[in-house]
Parts: sequence; C-alpha cells; structure tokens
Amino acid sequence: MAELIDGRAQADALNLRTAAAAVEFHQRGGDVPGLAVILVGEDPASDIYVRRKINQCRKVGIHSAEHRLPATTNQIELLRLIDSLNGDPSVHGILVQLPLPDGIDAALVLDRIAPAKDVDGFHPVNVGRLSTGTGGLVPCTPLGIMMLLDSVIDDYRGLNAVVIGKSNIVGKPVSLLLLEREARVTVTHIETRELSEITRKADIVVAAAGAPHLVRGYWIKPGAVVIDVGISRVANPDGTTKIVGDCATHELDHARAVTPVPGGVGPMTIACLLSNTVQAALQSLSQPDPPTNESDAKVVRSDCTPMKVGQGIATPVQ
Ligand code: GUN
Repeated sequence: MAELIDGRAQADALNLRTAAAAVEFHQRGGDVPGLAVILVGEDPASDIYVRRKINQCRKVGIHSAEHRLPATTNQIELLRLIDSLNGDPSVHGILVQLPLPDGIDAALVLDRIAPAKDVDGFHPVNVGRLSTGTGGLVPCTPLGIMMLLDSVIDDYRGLNAVVIGKSNIVGKPVSLLLLEREARVTVTHIETRELSEITRKADIVVAAAGAPHLVRGYWIKPGAVVIDVGISRVANPDGTTKIVGDCATHELDHARAVTPVPGGVGPMTIACLLSNTVQAALQSLSQPDPPTNESDAKVVRSDCTPMKVGQGIATPVQ
C-alpha cells in the first residue's frame, strides 16, 4: 500500500511556523502582517478559493483585506487599486485571484504588483529569480509540492522527475525547483506523445494537467512518489458530483507515496501563501518603503534581497 502524504497535517505544521514568524515580525517592530486579496467578477470556484485564503489568515495572525470588484471593472481601475496597495505600508502581500474576466490583461495586472509584495510569485522579477536560483517569492503551489516531496525524499540528485503540465502557476515553476535540487527533470503536457512511457520511468511524477484520472496505475513504476495537483469536479453515476485529481489513486498501491485529493496539495498551497505573506512582511523591515508606481518599482526590483527556499519559511540568503 502506498503511503498517503498528509497535506493537511503538513499545512498545519507550516501554519504554526508562520504564526511564530508573524510574532517575530511584531517583536522586530512591525505591526501585523497584511494580505490584500483582489477578486474581480463572480467565478464560483475563485470565490471559494478566496474565501478559504481569507479565513486562514486569521489563524496565523495575518490581517487580510478582501477587495471584491464587479466583472465590469476596467483595467485602469484595477491597476489603480494595485498602485494604492503597493504604496500602503500596512499591506505586505497582494494577490489577484486568477482567472481575470475577459478584457483584462492578466500579464499587465500581475506585472503591476510590486515584486516585494508579490506573494503569488508571478511577477517577472520573481519568475526570473526562481529561474536563476536567486530566491525571491516562490509560487505557492510549487513551494507546497516541494515541501510534500521533502517529507519523503532526502536526496533528489539523479532522480528522474516527470512533470505533467506546463502552466506558469505549477508546471514551469515546479520543474525549476526540482532542477534546483538536481533531479533530472522532464517537462511534459497533455499533448506529449507516449506520455505513459515517459512517466513509467519516473521516480517522481507531478501531475498538474487538470485532466481527471489521466494518470493510471500502469503509468507509474513501483516505488515512485506521485504528487497529484489536479482538482476536478466529476459526475457520479447517480448524478451527484465529487472532486477527483489527475491520478487514479486507487490504482497506485505499488507507488511509494502519493498525495490524496482532496487533502494533499490544496492545503499546502494556502499555507504557503500565508508563509510568503509573513516572509514578505519580515523582508519589508529591511527594505525601503514600497513603490507607489511602476517607475519607482524598478528601483526596488534591483534592491530586492534574494531569498532561498527552506523547510517552511523562506529565509534571506546571507
Ligand atoms: N488561480 C488558481 N490558482 C491560483 C493561484 O495560485 N494564485 C492566484 N492568484 N490565482 C489562482
């Protein structure tokens, strides 16, 4: 029987470390770490995710502010809100929930967030830091995936890791993090030919394709570690629905360890968001005032202190 990697328990443990870091922020002269969450429109799934993120903030001592904007919001209004949050010293993290409604250029919006407050790690400065291995804020789901993997793998050197999915949110950044650990990384996606033959040779499979039960038992070699990032709602024969991942977990008894859905990657994503927020707050104590507009932001970008990813809270590189 494969070991189930308990994402809920690991998220609870990370939240304890984050709560301690929030206290440290206060002891070092900060007030309360602050997270601003922006939701534009009425996407039901986004609504649930945002509510979960906001609810968890209180548990670890983060002050959260929710900005719900109608779907008719235009891009200029959204950019103005981001500018004002960039300039607000009580806000240490800014998250714009994706997807954004049609008509709003998501890249432009994400680029507007000050890199030091980009707790999603989606700003090109943070993406660049990740790709050069020079720290910065790391996207939450990939960060959580690495913590889950670290709980069962000590040494990645030479291991064959296969990532299914090439998204900016999961596939690309987790590939870079695995590469940083000196795994041999193969990035694949839903269009990759003979995908099952590639995954069958893997020691680690990260399935982030968003395709329910794509990964079957015969795709996985005995003893492999499987991380299931998928979360899809599918219909039961009786008309009810259930949440399933990208992996047919009931066929993976021969794996060494697997993450369940739900209760695997999901809780870690939120815990890493909280961790990134407190980390951004701590970093703000040793950095100049946040930028109020795009030209000022350029100054802070070159000033950004590199951070490395550790177990739990990311720590500044000495
Ligand atoms: N939508 C789906 N996943 C994410 C995420 O990690 N961050 C944001 N901002 N939006 C998302």
